Amino acid sequence: MVLEQPLRSVFMQLAKNKSLNKAAKKWGLKFGASQVVAGATLEDAIKNVQLLNEKGVACTLDHLGEFVTEREEAIESTEACLAVLRAIHETGVECNLSLKMTQLGLDIDESFCLYNMKRICEVAQAFTIFIRIDMEDYSHCEQTLRILSILRNEHQFDNVGTVIQAYLHRAEDDVNSLKGVPLRLVKGAYKESETVAYQDKATIDKNYLNIIKIHLNNGSYTAIASHDHTIIEKVKAFAIEQNISKDQFEFQMLYGFREQLQKELIDEGYKVRSYVPFGTDWFGYFMRRLAERPQNIAFAVRGFFGK
Ligand code: FDA
Repeated sequence: MVLEQPLRSVFMQLAKNKSLNKAAKKWGLKFGASQVVAGATLEDAIKNVQLLNEKGVACTLDHLGEFVTEREEAIESTEACLAVLRAIHETGVECNLSLKMTQLGLDIDESFCLYNMKRICEVAQAFTIFIRIDMEDYSHCEQTLRILSILRNEHQFDNVGTVIQAYLHRAEDDVNSLKGVPLRLVKGAYKESETVAYQDKATIDKNYLNIIKIHLNNGSYTAIASHDHTIIEKVKAFAIEQNISKDQFEFQMLYGFREQLQKELIDEGYKVRSYVPFGTDWFGYFMRRLAERPQNIAFAVRGFFGK
């Protein structure tokens, strides 16, 4: 589709637009966003997690928010994450927590962000809940990995892991150096320059399979987060061929995406986890999903006209 590339760029720009992100917080979920965002409140999100759990789908909750520049906002985000942990613990849902370092103040001060993360990891550890640090754009990659290393190695939190993006040239080295760390492996969602990231789909897909195989062969727990059925089939075949147990990996998909495929995987005995975002800060997340898959525009347009 000729329009695809320009459209992607437009959505990626909109995703980063601070004024729109701020304004959208007051709009409520619009343009069909409720199909991929599980509600504005924690209560709504927990209800959706319960419904997914009933279908055999495990979850990871994400209280939406990123690129925070005020200390107060980062503290509010930290409190929101703690509230999510308490809700998971109290309701007993099968769910962990995903969060972003810029949400907890990485752009303000790394040690402040680390302090907020320690508070979250302590509570999560007491409740035996796993914390996944989402990986953001390349400019935050090094700091995110440093925070992960301090949390795991200096503070002995083994309930925390992160995400490695296959489009980055450094991905293979990172996966090799994170042997034993539970990783979510993805293709990568941000627009990065060719100096740090592969640009063409075939090379990214090849490297994606490469890092998945490395982490699985290392005996490390691996989350394969993709809606790409071709990749999923190849991972299934590789696991069978290498005698890798279904307990050593899981498939992850975003809330509202490929529900039939999720069901089929569960019926085949694979673990499936849905990434369940919620909250009023939905705009950037929603724009990135539209950028990834222009076909999603169909439901955004329907939502826009109040379907
Ligand atoms: P891709 O978009 O490459 O699609 C490949 C093919 O799969 C398509 O051509 C189509 O055939 C099929 N397909 C894809 N989507 C479909 C759909 N909805 N319906 C039908 N067919 C479809 N990124 C990041 O940078 N940091 C992060 O922390 C995360 N975290 C994360 C968590 C989870 C749970 C997921 C699923 C993804 C992320 N990502 C991410 C996003 C990730 O990097 C990537 O941008 C998207 O998942 C899109 O790539 P895919 O592998 O899904 O397939």
